[in-house]
Amino acid sequence: MEIVISNSADELNLKGAEYFERLLLTKPDAVLGLATGSTPIGLYNELIKKYKAGKIDFSRAKAVNLDEYIGLSQSDIQSYSYFMRQNLFSHINIDPANCHIPNGIVDDIDEECRRYERVIKSLGGIDLQLLGIGHDGHIGFNEPGDSFEKGTHPVELARETISANARFFESIEKVPRRAITMGIKGIMNAKSILLVATGADKASIVRRALMGPIDPRIPGSVLQLHPNLTVLLDISAAGELQ
Ligand code: GLP
Repeated sequence: MEIVISNSADELNLKGAEYFERLLLTKPDAVLGLATGSTPIGLYNELIKKYKAGKIDFSRAKAVNLDEYIGLSQSDIQSYSYFMRQNLFSHINIDPANCHIPNGIVDDIDEECRRYERVIKSLGGIDLQLLGIGHDGHIGFNEPGDSFEKGTHPVELARETISANARFFESIEKVPRRAITMGIKGIMNAKSILLVATGADKASIVRRALMGPIDPRIPGSVLQLHPNLTVLLDISAAGELQ
């Protein structure tokens, strides 16, 4: 594991974007595993800047997202599909046909999970998986207690996750209770992982996930076992690391 601590979120976002830039230079058709949440937004802004400056070409890149709320259509402004278009895809030259996100409004959720697994497999796996981390240690929407062995699956969101994500909704009642998420197995199969965390409120979970025991009650702790993990932290999120 390589831990890189930045003095500011700006510095962190730039460093994060450079990982994608380097990958796409050497592998223009790379499969990018992308994440939602507020943490990656700054990094996505840097990717957009680099694209506009002619430094990155996404024309052959593929994107697979970690998760989607069950019950929200792709046009719902709270859906992760909308989030990705708004914060990245519509600003770069990635082909929308190459952007994959689980569909949260299918009748057969289990079949959708199997379809998503087939998509990832057909792309040859993920080259670089970007991850944020929830306050309870969730990655994607793999909540505490979820097994480390699952592929894409439906989840009931933890109370803490619902409260944390309520800030994006009109009220907490509007936050979906369920989601489809790539499993820990799928995340761990990525060839490389970039975990990003910022802010003092993440310092405790960052310490527990990276320095504590590997335990499904802290899903992010499994990342300690990944052979190619880079962790980008700002100084506040790194505050509890020795
Ligand atoms: C959501 C997403 C996660 C993300 C987490 C943290 O629950 N499913 O992928 O890591 O939020 O979000 P934030 O970066 O806003 O703290």
